[in-house]
Amino acid sequence: MSKVTVVGAGNVGATCANVLAFNEVADEVVMLDVKEGVSEGKAMDMMQTAQLLGFDSRLVGCTNDYAKTANSDVIVITSGIPRKPGMTREELVGVNAGIVKTVAENALKFSPNAILVIISNPMDTMTYLALKSLGLPKNRIIGMGGALDSSRFKYFLSEALGCNANEVEGMVIGGHGDTTMIPLTRFATYKGIPVSNFLLEEKLEEVAKATMVGGATLTGLLGTSAWYAPGAAGAYVAEAIIHNQRKMIPCSVALEGEYGETDICCGVPVILGRNGIEEIINLPLNDKEKAAFKASAEAVRKVNAGLKL
Ligand SMILES: NC(=O)c1ccc[n+]([C@@H]2O[C@H](COP(=O)([O-])OP(=O)(O)OC[C@H]3O[C@@H](n4cnc5c(N)ncnc54)[C@H](O)[C@@H]3O)[C@@H](O)[C@H]2O)c1
Repeated sequence: MSKVTVVGAGNVGATCANVLAFNEVADEVVMLDVKEGVSEGKAMDMMQTAQLLGFDSRLVGCTNDYAKTANSDVIVITSGIPRKPGMTREELVGVNAGIVKTVAENALKFSPNAILVIISNPMDTMTYLALKSLGLPKNRIIGMGGALDSSRFKYFLSEALGCNANEVEGMVIGGHGDTTMIPLTRFATYKGIPVSNFLLEEKLEEVAKATMVGGATLTGLLGTSAWYAPGAAGAYVAEAIIHNQRKMIPCSVALEGEYGETDICCGVPVILGRNGIEEIINLPLNDKEKAAFKASAEAVRKVNAGLKL
């Protein structure tokens, strides 16, 4: 039996659980939240769509009852506060660090072999905190940011190209911050053909910029952090692990010399499978991209310095 737990049944967590169940990624999906009754209510509401949507996965909601999460294969952590308009992800570090560490420790007591997918922001720093404080091997700690940012990149590229987003390939690496993420325009393709064959340099720069502030744009429109794409991106990462898909997805992972960095979690393309991170892919970055990655890692390190490890 496959099982995924989603901690935090707010906007992102509930959406993630909903996508996991709808796509039958796991036999059982457990949502856990501290807010009395919220997970139970959302799980029941979603289960009442099972017949309408035709899925067989079972959703369970619970209030802080970690026993219900026992023997999960994957634990997705979304608990914590989201940003409000005008805030950066980095400003959330103080509150969310305590929450992420506590919930991860609690969940691991009942699922000692689980793979962790960290979504709470500032995501790279929360992933680093998990790496430093939980004593797990690095292949079992995965930060979700690149999957979302890459999907946003492909959306903006498809809008500029006037094509279907599924015809576009593209990745975003580096830190998951408005000014630090790196949309890899040079590697992006439309049906395998470099996008520079279709779009002018200025347009590509516009696309990259829109991608980088993609989250902030939505926070401005919605009054809180976005959730449909973040939740779906969390489910996409969990699915690659549970179904051993060996997909290449940019994720925040512990670097030990790769991309010239050590003692940090930062976004790079990895192969995701049943062991979590199966492999880190070393991209042939040019000097400009290398410099951008270095600057991005520096920015992540500054936020990491705010952790009390
Ligand atoms: N990595 C990404 O790409 C990405 C994208 C979007 C949002 N986020 C982050 O995800 C987090 C959640 O965002 P959201 O919009 O769902 O927020 P939200 O406020 O809707 O939901 C957060 C939930 O966490 C719960 N929670 C708080 N402390 C908890 C604890 N100790 N145990 C269990 N549950 C607890 C809250 O009760 C709430 O229901 C935020 O930190 C946000 O910044 C990350």
